[in-house]
Amino acid sequence: MGRVAVVTGGASGIGLAIVRRLATGGASVALLDLDEAAADRAAAELRGEGLRVVGLGADVSDRAAVEKALEAARAELGPVEIMVTSAGLSLNAPFLDISVEDWERVVAVNLTGTFHCLQLAVPDMIAGGWGRIVTISSSSAQSGSRTQAHYSAAKGGVVVLTKTLALELGQYGITVNTIPPRAVVTPMFLAAPFAQGAAGEENIKALAARSPVRRLGVPEDIAATTAFLCSDDAGYITGQVIGVNGGNYT
Ligand SMILES: NC(=O)c1ccc[n+]([C@@H]2O[C@H](COP(=O)([O-])OP(=O)(O)OC[C@H]3O[C@@H](n4cnc5c(N)ncnc54)[C@H](O)[C@@H]3O)[C@@H](O)[C@H]2O)c1
Repeated sequence: MGRVAVVTGGASGIGLAIVRRLATGGASVALLDLDEAAADRAAAELRGEGLRVVGLGADVSDRAAVEKALEAARAELGPVEIMVTSAGLSLNAPFLDISVEDWERVVAVNLTGTFHCLQLAVPDMIAGGWGRIVTISSSSAQSGSRTQAHYSAAKGGVVVLTKTLALELGQYGITVNTIPPRAVVTPMFLAAPFAQGAAGEENIKALAARSPVRRLGVPEDIAATTAFLCSDDAGYITGQVIGVNGGNYT
């Protein structure tokens, strides 16, 4: 592939699998994460496998921090051609218990953070006449999710942001798509209330049994589709919500 990619939330779960997959395909990848130590560790491990990966610390909700991280990525690897936004924050509370602070933080990370990363990377893509953007949203954007009004609303915003950018940016050779995961086994998934306590293991087993393909997702499922969407072959796919969920919608 030989492209320059930035993956946010790249130190864990889905983001980390995407970093590995893009880098294995020949991309040079900047792995950006709130947890700078984890970003550095993951990048060092991947470099040890002969892949071109740099780790960068930044909170995606902090515009100046994202700007600084992208400057560092450009200096090290070159202009950004691929941006994958996987950084996310999932909180749970019944609607009436959601504090204003939690509402604002969840929207800031999931939605405004995506806005910052995309708005700061797109000029490179326009200048290069080629770009690929994949946002990682959530099935909750379509179905809603009990105790996640803030998270679902923010992810719904990510879906519409994605569709709107596809309309605006197609003329520059830039495609913009979103993958809304459903149940992918990652640290975030395993930390959800539904996976906790004595019932947690049974809940997870039952969810897998209900899935048409009789299993839950793994980060590599999302990474494989993301890599395709970031390829030259996917140039006619844009503005799409690409379900990678084993047929498991609800
Ligand atoms: N796992 C699932 O079943 C599932 C379902 C629906 C949506 N998603 C979405 O997929 C994406 C990846 O989630 P995951 O399951 O791999 O979770 P994860 O917790 O394994 O990884 C998320 C990463 O994002 C980083 N991050 C969090 N806040 C950040 C911030 N402000 N700035 C920069 N980095 C930040 C974390 O440090 C972590 O490394 C998220 O956007 C999540 O909402 C996951």
